Amino acid sequence: MKDILVTGGAGFIGSHTCVELLEAGYNVVVVDNLSNSKEESLNRVKQITGKSVKFYKADILDKEALDKIFKENDIGSVIHFAGLKAVGESVRKPVEYYHNNITGTLCLIEVMKENNCKTMVFSSSATVYGVKNKAPYTEDMDTSTATNPYGYTKVMIEQILKDLYVSDNEWSIIPLRYFNPIGAHSSGLIGEDPNGIPNNLVPYIAQVAVGKLEQLSVYGDDYETPDGTGVRDYIHVVDLARGHVLAVKYALENKGFEPVNLGTGNGSSVLEVVAAYEKACGKPINKRIAPRRDGDIATSFADASKAKALFGWEAKSDINEMCADSWNFTKKNPNGF
Ligand code: NAD
Ligand code: UFG
Repeated sequence: MKDILVTGGAGFIGSHTCVELLEAGYNVVVVDNLSNSKEESLNRVKQITGKSVKFYKADILDKEALDKIFKENDIGSVIHFAGLKAVGESVRKPVEYYHNNITGTLCLIEVMKENNCKTMVFSSSATVYGVKNKAPYTEDMDTSTATNPYGYTKVMIEQILKDLYVSDNEWSIIPLRYFNPIGAHSSGLIGEDPNGIPNNLVPYIAQVAVGKLEQLSVYGDDYETPDGTGVRDYIHVVDLARGHVLAVKYALENKGFEPVNLGTGNGSSVLEVVAAYEKACGKPINKRIAPRRDGDIATSFADASKAKALFGWEAKSDINEMCADSWNFTKKNPNGF
């Protein structure tokens, strides 16, 4: 079995995927510039699994460094997480986002090609479904528009990967379109450790629960949803990580370009998530109703049938388990890693 290179492997989803890959018996090589993560996450991965990944602190924009990683290891496939992901920041710093995410991916593809490695699983996002499609989203819907530069990096990288496959059918590329990953490993050793004030719902609630933030703002209660608050398809990060193990196995056995949704197929409203978190942490979450947030849509959830049909993947955890695991990590690591 050849090694798997995980770009961005020290991050939230990457570290959970390293655990699942090591437990499935793969050798894992990680490249990460630690711009949004800490090496401690990989020490924790070792604590959980009893196995180590081989870590390179390097930037995927650095082709020489990438080439050295390919020369020093026997890499058969790449799971490509490395990228900047903050929607609001991408509006303020579009060039930085396009450069890091798109140029970074182009550098990676070039080095892969030079080293005859043509199998990639890529971190895409439900953001590629834009605002015109209606949930449940299926993979064949139009994905040409997004609402912010971050979203456009995913739209454009998917297009680049598709064109790459058309030009050379030896490639095997699976963009995984994640819905809303939350939760943490059940050990409470790894989880989400955002920089500064969190933008996303569950990390924000977690900091209110642990006493670091005063109050949650619920962005809008007048959407066309059952309770008026936004509905999303939250997915446990360990379910998501398991999806990568199955996707990379599929990609190693089948050539093609196959975008696949990773979601549960169910939506939860903001108020339902708050209630689940209150149950998990055993205390009320201080909240107020605030105006809608720019760019938000009412409802987003996946049609998750393609992942099941293609590689037998299904999400297992429900919103209560996701909140319980988020709380377990937060209370054990109130200041992150
Ligand atoms: P994260 O920030 O925790 O992980 C990304 C990692 O990539 C970080 O460790 C960061 O240091 C590293 N990185 C960034 N640029 C790099 C570069 N140029 N060279 C080397 N390393 C670099 O984020 P995450 O939540 O784990 O997300 C992983 C991927 O999944 C990202 O591509 C993200 O866009 C995508 N995604 C995330 C979500 C989500 O809600 N978390 C949803 C959809 C898609
Ligand atoms: N929300 C609040 N208060 C907060 C934060 C969020 O009420 O403090 C609400 C939002 O309005 C939304 C829901 O909680 O209804 C979820 O918001 P998140 O920010 O957690 O997630 P989004 O669905 O907005 O964004 C996520 C990823 C993005 C990705 C997008 C589309 O974070 O990277 O899904 O796939 F682009």
